[in-house]
Amino acid sequence: MIPNQWYAVMKSDEVPRDKPLGVARLGEKLVFWRDRQGQIVCQRDFCPHRGAALSVGKVLGDALECPFHGFRYDAEGRCQLIPANGRDAPISKEVRLINYPTYEAHGFIFIWWGEPHGELPAPRFFDDLNSDFSYATARVLWSTHYSRAIENQLDVAHLPFVHYNTIGRGGRTLVDGPLMEWLDRDRFRLYVFNRVDDGSKPLKPEELTRPDVPFHLEFIFPNLWQNHIDDRVRIIVAFAPVDDQHTILYLRFYQSFMRVPVLRQVVNRLAMPFNLRILHQDQRVVETELPKQTALKIGEKLIQADRPIVAYRARRQELLDEATRV
Ligand code: FES
Ligand SMILES: [Fe+2]
Repeated sequence: MIPNQWYAVMKSDEVPRDKPLGVARLGEKLVFWRDRQGQIVCQRDFCPHRGAALSVGKVLGDALECPFHGFRYDAEGRCQLIPANGRDAPISKEVRLINYPTYEAHGFIFIWWGEPHGELPAPRFFDDLNSDFSYATARVLWSTHYSRAIENQLDVAHLPFVHYNTIGRGGRTLVDGPLMEWLDRDRFRLYVFNRVDDGSKPLKPEELTRPDVPFHLEFIFPNLWQNHIDDRVRIIVAFAPVDDQHTILYLRFYQSFMRVPVLRQVVNRLAMPFNLRILHQDQRVVETELPKQTALKIGEKLIQADRPIVAYRARRQELLDEATRV
């Protein structure tokens, strides 16, 4: 995982108001809960007393109670009560939970993975998804590292093979470019120019100009991807790292063409089966890729069409290097 980043790790509605939720994310066992104000709290799911999981404990107002001996912890991770010692007994500062900064927005819960340094910026998101849009979300577990899952969404050469009977119909096997455009150091767009092989050479990215159509792909480091289908329809995927071998994909269908309250949810839900079918086509192949985790140099025989994947790996490596230099 790249340290010092906000990661979208789950949907807001997965964490209830009145009880803790234990999940594995970023290679750790974490507990999520909400305080009286509904503010989300994320801590390591490990009681420092004798190692029980707090996620099978209770939320009591603004505190989390361990199920084993009732130690109570506040939202900052400080122990407030050790029942066996009596309610007025002093408590060592050493008895505390490891806390992760959280941010809730866009129906996602983000956690800051790394060193908390002062005021953290808000996590980035796709700014043009305004309140005209509504969405439905599905979650799917893949047995691979999140880098493989992300690279698949930046891979335009797989379309006529993996998706030969869905979005890759038409046998457009020849890949011009693709053309990448960096919006800032952690966000880029991808324009796709696949075509039927007529015997000509694929054009290089430098030979292409940005097409005058709304369709493009967009990626925001470390784990958000958008298929900008047109001005009113989008697919978003948040790749929540579980551990080095597993990733949960939160697939969202967004649209703004149907705004009537009940009907818009019907439209959103109806779009899910097709989008999930495409994702399952990807999953079948991506889960077989080895190694499960990618890096800049892993001996793969890459081609021109893989340039966005190389760019992703290069920036990922830079961020990893920056984080270890700090
Ligand atoms: S293990 Fe948590 S209170 Fe004892
Ligand atoms: Fe795909």
